[in-house]
Amino acid sequence: MKFTSLAALAAALVGTSLSALASPLMPRDVFVPPILYPHADTVWTVGQRHNVTWDTSNAPKQITNGKGMIMLRFENLTTPVILANNFNILLGRIEVTVPTVVDSSEYQLVLFGDSGNFSPFFTIQGSGVDF
Ligand SMILES: *[C@@H]1O[C@H](CO)[C@@H](O)[C@H](O)[C@H]1NC(C)=O
Ligand SMILES: *[C@@H]1O[C@H](CO)[C@@H](O)[C@H](O)[C@H]1NC(C)=O
Repeated sequence: MKFTSLAALAAALVGTSLSALASPLMPRDVFVPPILYPHADTVWTVGQRHNVTWDTSNAPKQITNGKGMIMLRFENLTTPVILANNFNILLGRIEVTVPTVVDSSEYQLVLFGDSGNFSPFFTIQGSGVDF
């Protein structure tokens, strides 16, 4: 009797893993939405809060990684500064606080979902430190 129920359990487990194996065949996709704001004319001031926005109109039905992260780039390099993390990529916006960084027009954001998308270059000012 024990064997029978173990066999049944094993069959159930095999069934589970088979359907888990089958799920990658479902439409699942890489989603890398383009950033809409900030754009090229944007000027942010240190300490302000702003909604970063991105286009979710081309989101696939199933997303491989639905969690987003936004990092700051400076002079074409991604910095360790995380502006937002662990939000739903389908929200299309997330509020961030402008960090205290040197004044420059060489900033970009990178929005990570499955992969990263860069914003245009924009300006952060207000630190009083020019670079
Ligand atoms: C961000 O967007 C939300 C929803 O539209 C709004 O309630 C909030 O005030 C906005 N934040 C800023 C800093 O504009
Ligand atoms: C960043 O890359 C752009 C485009 O390739 C280039 O025009 C610009 O000079 C670069 N900026 C720096 C600081 O390297």
